[in-house]
Amino acid sequence: MDYDVNSLTLEEKLQLLIGRNFWQLSTANGKLPDVFLADGPHGLRKVVDDSNCAIPVTAMPNFSTIANTWNPEMAKLSGETIADDCIENNVDVLLAPGVNIKRTPLCGRNFEYFSEDPYLAGAMAKSFIEGVQSKGVGTSLKHFCANNSEYDRVYQSSDVDERTLREIYLPAFETAVKANPYTVMCSYNPIAGIYASENKWLLKDVLRDEFGFNGLIVSDWRAVPCGYKAIKATLDLTMPYDKDAYKELKEAYEKGFITIEEIDERVKSVLEFINRITSNKSKRVITTTKETRHDNAVKIACEGMTLLKNEDGILPLKNGNIYVDGKYCINPVIGGGGSALATSDYKIEPLSTLLQPMIPNANVTSRTCAVAVTNLNVVGAKYSYEKISTADTVVLCVGTGPEVETEGRDRTTLRLSKVQEDFIIQSARYNKNIVVVLYAGSAVDASPWIDKVKAVLLAGFSGEGVQEAVSLILSGKVNPSGKLSETYPLSVCDTFNTRDCGNGMYENYFEKVLVGYRYYDTLDKDVLFPFGYGLSYSTFEYSNLKIKKISQTDYELAFKIKNTSAVDGSEVAQVYVKDVMSMVLRPEKELKGFCKVNIKAGETKTVKIKLDYRSFAYYSIPLKKWYVENGDFEILVGSSSRNVLLKDKIKIELDEAEQYSQINMKTL
Ligand code: BGC
Repeated sequence: MDYDVNSLTLEEKLQLLIGRNFWQLSTANGKLPDVFLADGPHGLRKVVDDSNCAIPVTAMPNFSTIANTWNPEMAKLSGETIADDCIENNVDVLLAPGVNIKRTPLCGRNFEYFSEDPYLAGAMAKSFIEGVQSKGVGTSLKHFCANNSEYDRVYQSSDVDERTLREIYLPAFETAVKANPYTVMCSYNPIAGIYASENKWLLKDVLRDEFGFNGLIVSDWRAVPCGYKAIKATLDLTMPYDKDAYKELKEAYEKGFITIEEIDERVKSVLEFINRITSNKSKRVITTTKETRHDNAVKIACEGMTLLKNEDGILPLKNGNIYVDGKYCINPVIGGGGSALATSDYKIEPLSTLLQPMIPNANVTSRTCAVAVTNLNVVGAKYSYEKISTADTVVLCVGTGPEVETEGRDRTTLRLSKVQEDFIIQSARYNKNIVVVLYAGSAVDASPWIDKVKAVLLAGFSGEGVQEAVSLILSGKVNPSGKLSETYPLSVCDTFNTRDCGNGMYENYFEKVLVGYRYYDTLDKDVLFPFGYGLSYSTFEYSNLKIKKISQTDYELAFKIKNTSAVDGSEVAQVYVKDVMSMVLRPEKELKGFCKVNIKAGETKTVKIKLDYRSFAYYSIPLKKWYVENGDFEILVGSSSRNVLLKDKIKIELDEAEQYSQINMKTL
C-alpha cells in the first residue's frame, strides 16, 4: 500500500518528522502502521521499558572481531542472525552498522566499527546490510560522518578537508550505500564547522545525489540543534521525541523559514520508508533457532580471532598440566559498552571446562576464586603463582572491558590495567610457557609484556560464543585465520596525535589521508602488529603473480597460494597499490583488494582480484573529481601491509589531453 502525503494534516506531517517516543515513529493518528527502531550492531538491543534494560538475545561478535575475519560472508551471517531476533521481537529497523573510520586507537567506540581502512570497512558493512535486509528488516548505516572519537562528540567539529573526507571518511559509506540500506543516520558532530544534520552538501549533494542513496536520513539521537535547518538539509526524521521539537517546527513554518513543499518532500521520504517496511514484511521468515544463532556466533568468533604470537609452536596446546587464570577465565567480556551492548542469557562455561574435553589427555585446571576473578588482587595473585609455577603451560585471560571501551568516552591509554600487566609479568617469572588470551575491542599496547609471553591470541570482543571459540582455537580444533583490521602501534606515543582531542570547538584532522597503516607505513614507523597481520597453524607460500590488463585502469590479478603445512587453513591475501610518483602526497600504499581462501594441507589455489579506476585515483580538489595521474603504479600482494610477498609494476597511460602537466623528471 502506498501512503499519500495529501491525506495528512499539517500537524500529522510535522509529527511524522519527529519521533513519537524514544524508538517509534508517529502513526499520524492511526493512519500509518507502527514502526520500531532498535539498536544492535552486535545483537538486537531492544529496550522495552524505562529501565534501560534490553531483552535477552544472542550476543554476536562485535564488528571489530567481524572485521578481523576479512570475510564479508561472516558479516552477512551476523546480519541474518540478528535479523531473526528482530523479527521475533517486532523490530523494523536495526540501528547498525557503524562504519566510522578508526582514526585513533583511543576512540571509545572503535569496537563498534570495522577498520582504519575504508575499503575493508565498506566491504564488511555492505555485506552486513545485505544480511539483515535479506530478511525484511531495515538497517541504519551510521554515523554519517567523521565521528571518529567520543570526546565532545556532540559539539566539536571534525575539521576535515574535502580530499581527506573523500578518500578516508566517506568511501565506506559510499560502498555500503550500494546495499541500499533503509536509512542512514547522521552523526552528532559538525563537519568543517557545519552540523551533520544541517550539512546539505553532505546529506543531499554527496549522499543522495552522488552516492545515490534514496532512503530515509535519520538523526543520531538528539543530534539536531535546529529542526528546520535539518529539513532544509534533507534530513527526514529527527529522533527521539522531544517535547519542543513540534512547536519549533510549527513556528519555523509559520515564520516562513520552511515551506510546505520542503515539509512534503521529507514527509514523502518517511512515507516511502514506511511503505518499504510494509511491503518487505513477507520476507520476515525466521530460519534459525536460539541454538543455531548461538552456533553462528561461535562460527564468526572462530574466524575473527587473531593469533598474534606463537613462539616455539606452543599453540595448539599439547598434553600436560594446563592452568587457566586471569580476569576473564570464568566470566569473559562479550562486548563493548553503550548502545551496542547486547544482553544475553546464554550461560557461558569457564574456559577450562570447555578446554578439557578438547584435549582429553591434558589435565586442565583453573582459578575458581570468584573474588580474584572479578578483581584480581594481591591475595589472589599470590595464591595463583603456586599453580602457575607448577603447570606445563599457563593460559592467562586478560583484557579491557565495557567499562574501558564504551560509547560516550574515549580511552585514556592503550595499556591494560596495571594489575593485569603486573600479573602477566609476574606469571612469566614463574613459568616460561605463558599463553595470553586478549579480550579487547581495539588495539592494546602490549609493550610491557609481549616479549615475556610465548603466545597471544586476540579473542577480541566476540559475543556469547567467545569461550567456545577460544577453546576451539587453543586446542587446535579450529585453525586461526583472523587478521588485524587495525594497526597495533608500539604505544600511544607512536600514533599521529597521542592525546590531542581538539580544543572544544574543533578537532583538526591535520594528518589528512595518513590514517592507520597509511601513516605508519608512509613514515616508516615500527609497529607492534601491522594492519592485515595474523598467524595461522598453517604456513603459506605465494607465487606466480600475473597482471592482465583489461583497459588502461582495469586490471585482473592472478596469483597462487600454497598451503605448505600439514594442516588445512585459511589465508587472507591482500592487494595494495602504490603510486610511485605523484604531484600530491599519497600514502605509501593503500588496500585495494583482498580475498580469504581456504586451502587444504599441501594444496595450491589461484586467487583472482580486480583493480579499477578508483584503485589508482586520488580525489583532486581543483578538479572536484577522482583523478588518475599517468605513470607507474606498484601492485603489492602480501599477507599484511608490512609483509609484501609478490610485486610488479604497471604503467597507466591515459589520454594525454585529459592529463595535467607533471614535473618532468628529466629536468630534475
Ligand atoms: C548512538 C547511536 C544509537 C542511538 C540510539 C546514540 O547515542 O550514537 O549509535 O543508535 O544513540 O541508541
